[in-house]
Amino acid sequence: MEFSEVIQHRYSVRAYKPDSVEEEKLQQVLEAARIAPTGANRQAFQLVVIHTRGREKEMLRIYGRDWFAQAPIVIAACAAPDYKLNVGIVMDHLILAATDQGLGTCWIGAFDRDAAREVLGIPDEVEPIILATLGYAADELRPKQRKALSELVRYEHW
Ligand SMILES: Cc1cc2nc3c(=O)[nH]c(=O)nc-3n(C[C@H](O)[C@H](O)[C@H](O)COP(=O)(O)O)c2cc1C
Repeated sequence: MEFSEVIQHRYSVRAYKPDSVEEEKLQQVLEAARIAPTGANRQAFQLVVIHTRGREKEMLRIYGRDWFAQAPIVIAACAAPDYKLNVGIVMDHLILAATDQGLGTCWIGAFDRDAAREVLGIPDEVEPIILATLGYAADELRPKQRKALSELVRYEHW
């Protein structure tokens, strides 16, 4: 896909087919995360890849939407709190690469962090910052609702 198509085609997928994600595609998506830029190139993040089959109840403790547990893979991006911005960049790489592979994703920020810590065994000094679902979409791309550029961009000064 052209880059412009990738950014137009990415949307929050909230229904997933049962099909699993091919290992090769998963590795390509993880590779896109690996090469993302980070401050001072510290790469101070960890991704936890969760295959959700058989772990649906645990997944629903983390985020209680059926479609979340339906996605065959959930990726939890973790880092020390100071590295949140880096994790955002890493996950954007991952999500756009997934779109390019024909996979659906959804960013999940409103999850239960204590449940995620417990289920995934995340140590105290590290924060589960953001999750992404990964799988084949069972819903459709919707028209994007966005503000006009004129509402978002100022030139030369505030
Ligand atoms: C940082 C971040 C956190 C988000 N958290 C959630 C979430 O917890 N649950 C959810 O259903 N969608 C979540 N979303 C998805 C947004 O609602 C969605 O990206 C936005 O409505 C635009 O729609 P689109 O992704 O389909 O273009 C999140 C998106 C971002 C970027």
